[in-house]
Amino acid sequence: MNEYVIVIFGASGDLVKRKLLPALYSLITKHDTKEFCIVGAAFDDIAAQEILERAKKYIPDVQDDVWQLMLERFSYQRLDFTNREDYDALSAHVNQKKKAFKLMKANTLIYFAAAANFFCDITRLCGESGLAKRVSVQHLPWTRLVYEKPFGYDLNSAHKINDCISQFFDEDQIYRIDHYLTKELVSNIALVRFTNAMFEPLWNNRYIDNVQIILSEEESIGNRGLYYDKSGAISDVMQNHMLELLAIVGMEAPKQLSGNYLRDERVKVLEHVQVIDAFVGQYDTYSHEEYVAPGSKTETFAAAYLRIENKRWSGVPFYLKTGKCLSKKETIIHIKFKAVDCLLAKCPIDANVLTIEVSPQAGFSLRLNAKKPGKANDVIPVNMDFCHSCIFGKREEQAYQTLLEGVIRGEQSVSVRFDEIEYAWKIIDAIKKDERAIYSYPCGSGGPVEIEDFNKKHGIRWIS
Ligand code: BG6
Repeated sequence: MNEYVIVIFGASGDLVKRKLLPALYSLITKHDTKEFCIVGAAFDDIAAQEILERAKKYIPDVQDDVWQLMLERFSYQRLDFTNREDYDALSAHVNQKKKAFKLMKANTLIYFAAAANFFCDITRLCGESGLAKRVSVQHLPWTRLVYEKPFGYDLNSAHKINDCISQFFDEDQIYRIDHYLTKELVSNIALVRFTNAMFEPLWNNRYIDNVQIILSEEESIGNRGLYYDKSGAISDVMQNHMLELLAIVGMEAPKQLSGNYLRDERVKVLEHVQVIDAFVGQYDTYSHEEYVAPGSKTETFAAAYLRIENKRWSGVPFYLKTGKCLSKKETIIHIKFKAVDCLLAKCPIDANVLTIEVSPQAGFSLRLNAKKPGKANDVIPVNMDFCHSCIFGKREEQAYQTLLEGVIRGEQSVSVRFDEIEYAWKIIDAIKKDERAIYSYPCGSGGPVEIEDFNKKHGIRWIS
């Protein structure tokens, strides 16, 4: 059955414009399908066409015929997330669209692009109004509910949301997603680790000096103040994307590189993470952003020093650093190896580094030491590169497309299991429990200069 009704809560928001509608557009083009309709719902008074127009600039090479189809099949209904009557109206609207487009047997995908404090109400009211049905995993047509991160605001709220939604729907219907898990290079990390003989023997505290995970962004928070000011960098990207990266780098070999085997191993890593210290900052123009509270102390920059207390990693620092309004956009992991005993008069300044570039240039690079041409045994660092786009061609970022395809195929592996979320929140709660000074930095810079004190205190040398 290849018919779909997609209902998006929070349809007027930034994520839907930048990621979700472009991904749906790509799927429609790729699968050349007409058997669908998309219904957006949110509090704003806005026309469906305007939502689509805002998304258009994030879609490369828009084709007229597909765009016409999107215009025909996308509709919008204003809705108060907590008002039962609005759900009855939405349900009637969805049924009318199903009849009009002959989609009476369509599968239903409900997408939660709304704030997490509405997850419980929306879920309950979807059930009560008949928009979404509790059905067993084999039942066709299926109904699946996709929850955007962050799943909650802390451990306590995450538990409340989870308890609430599991009253109304089965675990097989629930997808808690993190689009980083479907990024090409992120899926590649475990594969490269476990299919190449040279990495695994060195992948431990005997040979690795430290691991650095950096997610930096040039963009400011834009018009996301309402959400971001309550969240901050630590909950926005550390709790999910960055800790998932840490878990993948740190995990033991799973029985198979798939589904629950991978999740089991990721959880075991998160369970053993200890927080050593953290540092926070805020860009200088943050308080002028729309919907940001005056005098807000929300961090837009954060660094954390963590350790994984298990046999493999004991004693190895894991450094995380993220920020908005920085000088560049990149997501990168550096695995820095320990220095070797040096037999030369002039020894290399730095040891080997394996760099995994998740974006913008997907690829791996291994920094080695080599001999500088000439008589003396001078050492220069050289890189051995695997440039993903050079071999496989430059492809547009497809994480959301891969994610939606996974949900449609019923692959639970694109969903984050609740125990992963639980452990991640425990780590974040531990980072946030101490009150910290917040340092300002100019938008477009490398972050607050005061991070030098934090670096000195812990002997951190960030690799640039
Ligand atoms: C989102 C965060 O989850 O991830 C955003 O809410 C952030 O604030 C984004 O910009 C980063 O994702 P990507 O794929 O652009 O690196």
